[in-house]
Amino acid sequence: ITIRQATISDIQAMQNANLHNLPENYQLKYYMYHILSWPQASFVATTYDDIVGVNDTEVDIATHSDPKGDTSYVRKGEKIVGYVLGKMEDDPEAEDKTPHGHITSLSVMRTYRRMGIAEKLMKQSLYAMCEVFGAQYVSLHVRKSNRAALHLYRDSLNFEIKSIEKSYYQDGEDAYAMRLELDLEK
Ligand code: ACO
Repeated sequence: ITIRQATISDIQAMQNANLHNLPENYQLKYYMYHILSWPQASFVATTYDDIVGVNDTEVDIATHSDPKGDTSYVRKGEKIVGYVLGKMEDDPEAEDKTPHGHITSLSVMRTYRRMGIAEKLMKQSLYAMCEVFGAQYVSLHVRKSNRAALHLYRDSLNFEIKSIEKSYYQDGEDAYAMRLELDLEK
């Protein structure tokens, strides 16, 4: 598994992975906005398939996915198994003017879970937000029922629950609004 910065050529595969793993989906232009505005804040986890015996034409170049649609190839043999999409808060209406980052989306393909990939992706993004963009903290939302993600954020990465946002999600589920202070001086 390789963790590297995400590029524009990865966004289709990132969107595919997102559609597979989460009900919160975004238009391609929103991925593009992240990568163009904060290129250092988003990462992908990739691996190389052993393509011996696999007919190359099985990989649809336009969608970067295989016929079943559950694998996202960026280039021949390289596939995305996880991603983190990060940004700096840029809403001029936001009350808090302290520079801070936000994790828009994180997911790892099912067969690659519990290998530490999400933790690595998160750490890379958090580090870049702090070092490159001067983020003093990073925020995110997570479903109250999402035990795996909650464990990752709270226990592995030391995020704190700041508040509960009622009916944050389209289906009415509440979100934990979480935050990690990045002030490394303290
Ligand atoms: N149950 C309990 N704890 C878990 C689980 C689980 N199923 N999965 C991960 N964790 C916790 C553990 O503390 C784990 O450390 P440990 O293995 O040493 O015990 C730690 O997280 C790190 O786990 P990773 O292996 O790095 O996590 P993984 O690569 O499996 O990815 C993720 C975790 C992203 C939550 C994955 O399960 C996934 O893609 N889920 C579906 C999509 C999703 O829920 N994404 C987050 C939505 S919130 C947002 O995007 C801002």
